[in-house]
Amino acid sequence: MARMRVNGQALEFALDPATPLLWALRDAANLTGTKQGCGGTGQCGACTVIVDGSAALSCTLAIGTLEGADVTTIEGLANHPLTLALIAEDAIQCGFCLPGFTCAVAALLQQSPRPAAEQIDALPNRCACGMQPRLRRAIERVAGAGAPEPSPTPPAPPQTPEIVSPPR
Ligand code: FES
Ligand code: FES
Repeated sequence: MARMRVNGQALEFALDPATPLLWALRDAANLTGTKQGCGGTGQCGACTVIVDGSAALSCTLAIGTLEGADVTTIEGLANHPLTLALIAEDAIQCGFCLPGFTCAVAALLQQSPRPAAEQIDALPNRCACGMQPRLRRAIERVAGAGAPEPSPTPPAPPQTPEIVSPPR
């Protein structure tokens, strides 16, 4: 069991505490926007989500270590300025890397509203389709419009967690 807030909703995962957050999100919470790219080795960034305000590789995080955490996935960033800028810049080819890139850059923008090129280059995320120039234009669009909202998920009153488990 592990309780956390995901996109503002209190969830209790009825799973082994060693379960990677990636699979808890996808298989139990049906939040399939978060992708697996590299087989859970922490090398591609496709599985990036935001945990307590920082980008995190969900394939490397056991849910048992996340008790009480605040998790944001790509589903929670649907109206984020970066998401809208990515759409405006047509920065999507196959789209497989985009959920992870969006979470990683959204977290970066919260900490550094006008990130330097080196900060973007330092992200662990990889794109096989070569959309990085359009990603950069999207980031410039957001940076030029001012800092995004400080938190992608608004505070919510305490909730009774919904218990989620994998389908049988
Ligand atoms: S799936 Fe590649 S870093 Fe997590
Ligand atoms: S858009 Fe295809 S991997 Fe990035």
